[in-house]
Amino acid sequence: MKALILLTALTISSFAQEKTLDLTRPENYANQPVPAYITKDNTPAGNEITDLGATLGRVLFYDKRLSRNDTISCSSCHHQQNGFSDTATASSGVAGTTGRHSMRLINARFSDEMKFFWDERAASAEVQATQPIQDHVEMGFSGTDGDPDFSDLVTKLSAIEEYQVLFQGVFGEATINEERIGKAIAQFVRSLQSFDSKYDAGRAIRNEGQPFPNFTASENTGKQLFLSPPNNGGAGCAGCHRPPEFDIDPNTGNNGVSGSLGGGTDFTNTRSPSLRDLVDPNGNPHGSFMHDASLPTLLSVVNHYNAIPAVVTGLDNRLRQPGPGGGQPQRLNLSEQEKADLVDFLETLTGSSIYTDEKYSTPFNTDGSLGLVILPTDNAQMSFSEQDGTQYVTLRSSGVPNVEYLFQTSPDLDQWSSTSFTASAAGELEIDVPLVEGEDQMFYRFAYGVTAD
Ligand code: HEC
Ligand code: HEC
Repeated sequence: MKALILLTALTISSFAQEKTLDLTRPENYANQPVPAYITKDNTPAGNEITDLGATLGRVLFYDKRLSRNDTISCSSCHHQQNGFSDTATASSGVAGTTGRHSMRLINARFSDEMKFFWDERAASAEVQATQPIQDHVEMGFSGTDGDPDFSDLVTKLSAIEEYQVLFQGVFGEATINEERIGKAIAQFVRSLQSFDSKYDAGRAIRNEGQPFPNFTASENTGKQLFLSPPNNGGAGCAGCHRPPEFDIDPNTGNNGVSGSLGGGTDFTNTRSPSLRDLVDPNGNPHGSFMHDASLPTLLSVVNHYNAIPAVVTGLDNRLRQPGPGGGQPQRLNLSEQEKADLVDFLETLTGSSIYTDEKYSTPFNTDGSLGLVILPTDNAQMSFSEQDGTQYVTLRSSGVPNVEYLFQTSPDLDQWSSTSFTASAAGELEIDVPLVEGEDQMFYRFAYGVTAD
């Protein structure tokens, strides 16, 4: 049995300014409070959000090494301060710009619709999560046009020690594959939730159709316009964007916006992100609206629906005039005041914490490195022994074979001292700690520090 040697205490003050990923006390992603009136959820069986899975997803989401030339991460086109969308009309990837506008990712979990992308071409968030990586323009592991392919990304990540450590910590195995990457990223994306809006404050105490006491008269009028069908004096928005999630009806045609950033037309877009957080807490849009970013303000959006320009291929019947000989594009004839009311209402759907909450932010330090990773200890495998009259407790965890880890001790959970040691060839982390009668209490943990050497 190895005896514990406390080496000359390399203190971890060198980590003090750096970020820590504590897998023993991960951020809460799995059990975030969801209001009782929110019932839609597209989480598939087999990939429920876990705190550790979403933590890994967060690292992957913010890591530029997921692109072929280390310049682009998911967050390059999905910025937290922009509702996880992009203010640019077309976002820049490793080889040019995207063919459609980036989408907000807020509350993507809370919908009946399982499919993702403007044209719903990804069957699930899990399938979606690895598509940008395999896109020639976006992240460049496409396997075409001279690009490396996805297996090259798996090889690349598998050679990065900190990913071996993270996958081991999360899945209990260091093996990295497409399924695990997709699942972890999808968990993080589904964890991006925003329910602290003015709308939620009202919805928590009133039913949808009643005036909300915390709303202005204009906001309440706007809400009524949003909810009511056009044949009842309303604007009919809720027929497709369904409160309280404001997710899109899975069976929707297009909404008459048919431009294409590459020129020409694009009639295939029948999905909208949730209408929550259309604008930031200051009321500014996160870039222009729609797949072609053709409508710069909420008022221009309302004007579009007020008078759909033309019947285009695939235009949803709900946006056409009813009746025999009908089918002409919708004319709502909203007054200027009614348009302003609708805009005021849409602005109540914006939350605040999602824009700044650290658990949704980059886990990387400003120099691009990952800080300290604190690893779970397997309490069940703790054992006691005695040698030469001294009591020892043996602490264990599972790690990556032959990788250098840190064993850390602290009297106060604040200042930590570190000792480097190497995992066994079988990947066991095992440390014997002497128990000295009458000694002050000590805290112990296993960690992995990329910046330690
Ligand atoms: C180069 C910019 C770019 C990068 C990088 C990028 N995205 Fe996107 N993302 C977009 C664009 C543009 C769309 C809309 C594309 C479309 O519908 O054709 C989109 C759509 C999405 C959607 C669909 C949302 C919905 O409601 O349907 C999700 C989810 C998403 N991205 C997640 C990610 C993840 C995860 C990554 C990293 C693995 C990533 N994106 C990388 C630009 C980007
Ligand atoms: C027939 C279904 C339907 C109706 C009714 C409808 N929409 Fe939409 N909406 C869509 C679709 C589909 C999209 C995505 C279209 C695209 O980008 O090509 C969309 C997109 C949007 C967007 C842009 C979202 C973004 O992320 O850029 C806003 C805002 C919006 N709708 C608001 C409204 C309002 C306000 C009303 C009522 C006046 C309304 N919609 C009525 C189907 C509908």
